[in-house]
This record gives sequence, structure tokens and C-alpha cells, in this order.
Amino acid sequence: MNIEKLIPECKNNLWGGEKLVTEYGKKTDKTPCAESWELSFHPDGMTRITDGRTLAEAASPADLGANCAGFGTFPVLVKFIDAKENLSVQVHPDDEAAKKHGSLGKTEMWYIVEADPGAFIYLGFNKRLTENELVGSAKDGTLTDHLNKIECKKGDVFFIPAGTVHAIGKGCLICEIQQNSNITYRLYDYKRKDKNGKERELHIAEAAACADLGVYRGRNHGAACTDGELIGASGFFSAYRFDCKDRAVIRRDKASFKCLTCLDGEGSVGDVPVRKGDSVFVPAGEGAVNIKGGTSFIITSVRRYAIGIDLGGTFIKGGVVDDLGNIISSGKTATESRLGDQAVCARIAGLSAKLLDAAGLTPDDICGIGAGVPGMIDREEGEVVYSNNLRWEHFCIKAELGRLTDKNIEIANDANVAALGEARFGAGKGRSNVVMLTLGTGVGGGIVINGSLYEGNRSAGAELGHMCIIKDGELCTCGRRGCLEAYASATALIRDTKRAMKAHPESRMNEVSPDEVDGRTAFLYENEDETAKRVVEDYLGYIACGIADICNIFRPEAVLIGGGIGKEGKAMTDRIQALVDPCIFGGDLGPGVPVIPAALGNSAGIMGAAALVLC
Ligand code: BGC
Repeated sequence: MNIEKLIPECKNNLWGGEKLVTEYGKKTDKTPCAESWELSFHPDGMTRITDGRTLAEAASPADLGANCAGFGTFPVLVKFIDAKENLSVQVHPDDEAAKKHGSLGKTEMWYIVEADPGAFIYLGFNKRLTENELVGSAKDGTLTDHLNKIECKKGDVFFIPAGTVHAIGKGCLICEIQQNSNITYRLYDYKRKDKNGKERELHIAEAAACADLGVYRGRNHGAACTDGELIGASGFFSAYRFDCKDRAVIRRDKASFKCLTCLDGEGSVGDVPVRKGDSVFVPAGEGAVNIKGGTSFIITSVRRYAIGIDLGGTFIKGGVVDDLGNIISSGKTATESRLGDQAVCARIAGLSAKLLDAAGLTPDDICGIGAGVPGMIDREEGEVVYSNNLRWEHFCIKAELGRLTDKNIEIANDANVAALGEARFGAGKGRSNVVMLTLGTGVGGGIVINGSLYEGNRSAGAELGHMCIIKDGELCTCGRRGCLEAYASATALIRDTKRAMKAHPESRMNEVSPDEVDGRTAFLYENEDETAKRVVEDYLGYIACGIADICNIFRPEAVLIGGGIGKEGKAMTDRIQALVDPCIFGGDLGPGVPVIPAALGNSAGIMGAAALVLC
């Protein structure tokens, strides 16, 4: 389907105001206009498109995107709410509690579009209550004494997990993004009477059964993402603030539709004119959508999240990543592998909990945890068969991490995972066949064929660092001699730099004390020192030798260079390219193989690890 302007269903609850009609362009004869259901597949108020069909009729599963498919029903509902009077104190059930009504639960978030001076909301309690206190205070009219009152202003964002007792106060105009559900249990209605002198029905017992009796704890996001600033994230929906000064572009993706709700300004989304109050549906798909005019939007979509872990000999690095490759939070902790495999898993679980907290997500919001681990990994079993770096043998990390986190765990070799990250989100994006070398403590290899990792039988292959480039050469950490790793790793470069310094006391590299020599030393001195130059040239020659072999075996669309040494960037890969080109089979008769720096740095491992679970 095309990009479509959405025609909302309006609601005339008694507490509503006029602003949605007078300022936000809603065309309805319902007065007051309390709510406009902007994006809704809910039978209580279906959104339509301009040809009169409901959006539910018009949109195919492909238009909604693959991420919506797992919910059984369309997962999101977006509305404007104009509260001229206080709304009742209420609570919504979660998915489990809503099941008996054949409905989803209702986790929601509010973006405060406008707030009168002094306007407030209630979210949760100011101290933990017992169920009896909740029921008693709802009945005797003292409930609001226990509620957590928050004065609010334009631009504030609140995340309201199902089970949070809440109320919208008068003078708030809100854009609400919620699960597709219409189940509300009313706890207290200020003892108000309707025009017939009757109080509205309360559902105190149902509310008490699903209410979270604890103190309200907000969630913070704030990450800069492809669709703007992330202001609300969950396993059900994600929302972003997106401002366009004059012209901007958003990218469509096949995993989710995007609903653009205009909060301010006037302009267009694709060919569809928009103004304050309008919502536009951009179907899932490919390509760019042009936004024009000074406008502010909330973009709603359905994203998937996972934790990606890059387990190294020294540090465990991790991040919460979405299915577009946006890193929502990241962090690291020391590996301390000497404490043993179980202790390392406990550290991974601890880091994961911190990452989730920093991302404003809960374990229920993510699809799982992916991890890249150095060494031979049996991916099916989730076992580290042998890790030369961590000194582990036959350790089932999937079982232990699964036990600690209760999440789906996927593991793969660290360099394979980095290659997957670069192929999906980084320097390999748009290419189906790439090979990556990571030049760090060891030399890792990752092979992506037709967009998927090639890992060999029981995922024990792709150890490109352990191909022999010099028979009977230097001893490698794997026990064999002459491996690429024994010449092209940072460890090997440091060894060769130190040897050259010793053999050439006149070398300026001797200004650096042997303890401080690192993978950059020879590069730093090569323009002013012959010995340093030779070390670098030999080093690049070894790498080129390995890469030429890789090109001849796989003829990939590109070879990506990552890892610590990869930070030398294009200046280094151009020199490698010049050495590789004359060595590849058929010379320039066949397709060339660009040797390019990886683009994601340390994040490649995190993003690739998350991709093990997400894609
Ligand atoms: C290991 C590989 C690993 C690479 C990068 C090598 O020493 O054998 O399995 O991928 O280091 O960490």
C-alpha cells in the first residue's frame, strides 16, 4: 500500500475538551472530543484511510512488517487524549491477566503534548501498599493520598507498564502509545456523578488483582536512533521524537511500519500533506521517505531488542541493540577469566541486567542474548569446545547463561559474530558475500556467504587466523607453526617490533620503553625510521599474503579489516590492497576485491552478537 493519511476514530468521553477539534484538525461531530484513535486496529475504534477502508482492511502483513507477525494481532494503538477534566484512577492488566478477555494487556506511554500550568498526573504509589490498603482507600476516597503525583509539562515522557495504577489530570493533552487493548479497571472516580446523578462503575477487585503495589519507577531511554530520539521502548512498541527543520529523510524497513504523528508544524510525508494533529502510516518496505516542512513527529514502530555480548580475554563488552542495529545502551566489565567459566557467566548476567536497566527495558522486552566467544564454538549445543584465549574446554555457556538469565541464548565465535555485525549493519551492508579479519590479540576470521555466516561443520571452521602462511614458521597459540595469527596479530606485531628494536639499537623506536611497545609503535615511527618502516612493511606483507589466499578461495565482494590494528584505517588498507591485487588469481581479469576498514569498531562484536538472536 501507499503512504496514507490516517482518519482517526474519535471518542466523546465526558472529561474531554475541544482542542482536538479546534487546534488539532479532528473532523468529528462528537463533543466533547476526548480521544482520537490515530492508529488503531481495535474493534472499539478502527482507524480508516482516505478511501474509506479501515487500515486493518487495507494493510497486508508485509505492510505491517515482520515484527508485527509474532503477536497474533496488531500490537499497537496510538491516540491523542485531551483531558479537560480529571480522568478516573485506573489500572490496566498485563498480557497474562488480559488473556481471559481474549485481549492483550495494556502497557502504555504518554508524551505530554500540552499541559496547563499546574497540570499533573498520577503514576503508581508514593509508598508500597498492601492489597487491603489499596482496596480500603479506593472505597473510602483516600486513594489519591497514596498516589505518586507528578507535575508535568510539554515534552515530558512517561512509561506506564501494565499494572501501574494511574490517572491523567485535567489540563493534559497527551499522545498515548499503548498496546492494542481497551481493558480498563476503574479504581476511583472522585465520587463524581454523571448527568443522571449516578456514579460510574468501579472495578476494585479486578484492579486490585492486577495492580503493582510498589513505588513507581520510571524508565529512561534517550538513545539517538535511526528514527530519532528513542523516547519509549518495549517489546510491544517503540516511539521516537523526530524533528524536521525543513527537509529530512526517514528510511523504511521491512521489519516494521512507521506511524508518524505530527505534534507541530506543517509539511509533508512523502506526497501526503501533514499538519499538527495528523498521523500518517508509512508501510514497511524499502527506500527513503522525504519529509518536508518544519515539523515535529512522534514515530511509532514495532522493534525487536536483544543483548549482544562480546566476550574477550580482558573485557566483556555488551549492549542492548535493536533490529535496525541501533545501540540503545552499552557497557563493559572485566572478564576475570581466572575466576572460572561460571564466574564469567555470572559477570555476563550482571552486565546484561545493567544494560537492560540503562536501556529502560526489562527482560521481557528482549528476544534473547547473543554472545561472541573466542575459540571453537559448537553453536548448536551452545558449547565452547575449546578457547585458546579463555583457556576453556567443553563449557556449555548456553546452559549456564540460560539458567542465570532465563533467556534464549545464542553463541558463536567472536570473529564470526563481528563479521555478521559488519555485514548486517556496517562496512559490509549491501554486500552479500564478505570476509572479515579481526587483527587483535589473535587473528579472527568471519565468512558471510549469501548474507549468512559460514561456520563450517559444527561451527568449528572459519579460523582464518590459523591458515599457514609460512611452513615451520613462528609458533602460534594453537600449537602449530607459521599461522597467519603468528604474524598478523597485534601480539605478533609487538613481538616483531621489539625484536627489531633490539637488533637495531639506533632505531628511534628505542625511545619507547619495551614495556610500552604496542601495535601502533612501528606505525608511529615508520616515516622517520627505516627499521620501523621495515617492520610495518613486513607486517602488511603477511596480512596481504593471507588476504590474497582468502580472495582466491572465496572471491568475496570485500575483505573487511577490523580489530585493534584495524583502527589504522584506510591508510593501512590501501597499502594492503596494493600488495593483494597482484597476487589474486587472474589479476585484473576477474572481479577485484576491495580491502576496506571495518566501520563499527568495538561495536561490531556487540551488534553481530545481538544479530544472532534478532535476525
Ligand atoms: C582464536 C579465534 C578467535 C580469534 C580472535 C584466535 O586466537 O583462535 O577463535 O576468533 O583469536 O579473538
